Amino acid sequence: MAHHSIFSEFGLGMPTIKVSTVTRERLLRAARKVMKNAYAPFSNFRVGAAILTSKGQVFVGCNVENSSYGMTNCAERTAIFSAVARHGPKLEIRAVAVANDHGVACSPCGACRQVIYEFGPRAIVFYEGKKGPKQSLITDLLPEGFRLK
Ligand code: THU
Repeated sequence: MAHHSIFSEFGLGMPTIKVSTVTRERLLRAARKVMKNAYAPFSNFRVGAAILTSKGQVFVGCNVENSSYGMTNCAERTAIFSAVARHGPKLEIRAVAVANDHGVACSPCGACRQVIYEFGPRAIVFYEGKKGPKQSLITDLLPEGFRLK
């Protein structure tokens, strides 16, 4: 595989996406910035997310809560839906970064994992783990993700 490839091979199977430290920091910065726009009067827990597409574009989102609690949209899905609205449905998510204003462990919820997987089956997710910053493949966070196509 070419030296400059964004993929690295680990034996058989899907190529793994590589994200540089600079890009990771850029995504986390964007996630921290947009977190401030969250509408979270019920939980008081502000979350920001930034996604990187295969074209190198970055899209951000924050959580948007509702008086009817179940209508809440997480930061991750806000970022992804905003990206689709701007870019169209053919985007591939290469990476997702998540930040929260409590400095606590916060990995994407189950619903968001499925939405990340839909547009980024090879995505890397950067988030706050129980013992500090962590990264995981979406396929490790969501084994056996659902697909119609
Ligand atoms: N939340 C997110 O936006 N992303 C996550 O990864 C975890 C949870 C939001 C939903 C809700 O507005 C608040 O955090 C508390 O659950």
